[in-house]
Amino acid sequence: MKYYNNILETIGNTPLVKLNKIVSDVDALVLAKVETFNPGNSVKDRMALKMIEDAEADGRLKPGGTIIEGTSGNTGMGLAIAAILKGYKCVFVMADKQSKEKVDILKAVGAEVVVCPTAVEPEDPRSYYSVSKRLAKETPNSWYVNQYDNMSNTAAHYESTGPEIWEQTNGKITHFVVGVGTGGTVSGVGKFLKEQNPNIKIWGIDTYGSVFKKYHETGIFDEDEIYPYVTEGIGEDILPKNVNFDIIDGFEKVTDKDAAIYTQKIALNEGIFVGNSAGAAIKGLLQLKHHFKKDDVVVVLFHDHGSRYVGKMFNNDWMKKMGYIN
Ligand SMILES: Cc1ncc(COP(=O)(O)O)c(C=O)c1O
Repeated sequence: MKYYNNILETIGNTPLVKLNKIVSDVDALVLAKVETFNPGNSVKDRMALKMIEDAEADGRLKPGGTIIEGTSGNTGMGLAIAAILKGYKCVFVMADKQSKEKVDILKAVGAEVVVCPTAVEPEDPRSYYSVSKRLAKETPNSWYVNQYDNMSNTAAHYESTGPEIWEQTNGKITHFVVGVGTGGTVSGVGKFLKEQNPNIKIWGIDTYGSVFKKYHETGIFDEDEIYPYVTEGIGEDILPKNVNFDIIDGFEKVTDKDAAIYTQKIALNEGIFVGNSAGAAIKGLLQLKHHFKKDDVVVVLFHDHGSRYVGKMFNNDWMKKMGYIN
């Protein structure tokens, strides 16, 4: 018999899939690391499990404890799955711009969800950063995960996602393109790949309304750049410790409209049903196409599943209301 002892053992070893129609204008081999094959349908299962295991190991998370986190949904899903098997409770704090599906999905796996306003400063007591911290202080036997500054996040990708991409491309990868939120994926994968071959270029995909690109290029944290945006999962109004700006060669910004349209295009052109940050990543890759040559092997990572966006990017009434399509 061949079986896994529990669902956590199925995390990782996701497929690398060649993209065809959507990248027909790109003169390189473009491969997608499709992270929806993880049990929680996103790349975040990897770092969620690693953060829990590291916190168990050094006593930050104790038996029967409550896991508290500010999450846009995917990290919460990974944490909740692990919490079920390991006997922890979960309380998640989300911003109100996140899709309703994400809230419902977290409740489905037993988590309590607290929703906070998006359009407030991170320091505001109503922000999801502040509310998560307060709940962690008030709840006995709780552990505040803080995926932004928790370095087990980057470590998970350094230990699993990076080596998988290196092995699956037989060391032939030349460019890695990925959306950046907490920075764990880009920093962990980027560090591992650059250690194998320092010539590999690492591109981060950013949104308008986020501080990353300008900070990377000028060292200036420009508050005037910050405004609420629609794209989910990437861009920030803070500088998380997990973003290792030194290993990132460049950031490319993608508009909310383009990210939404390209989320639909991936499904319609490739039959790969993935989320909004995948749309941003593929549009960013297309904007960068002049950087790629014929023999290059470009890997783009698709973070999460399209089912989380059926009320938004995959709903044409919503797309029309937003003015993204006619
Ligand atoms: C859908 C989605 N895409 C991209 C990201 C960004 O990944 P990372 O936090 O590893 O930078 C996240 C993180 O929350 C996400 O949920």
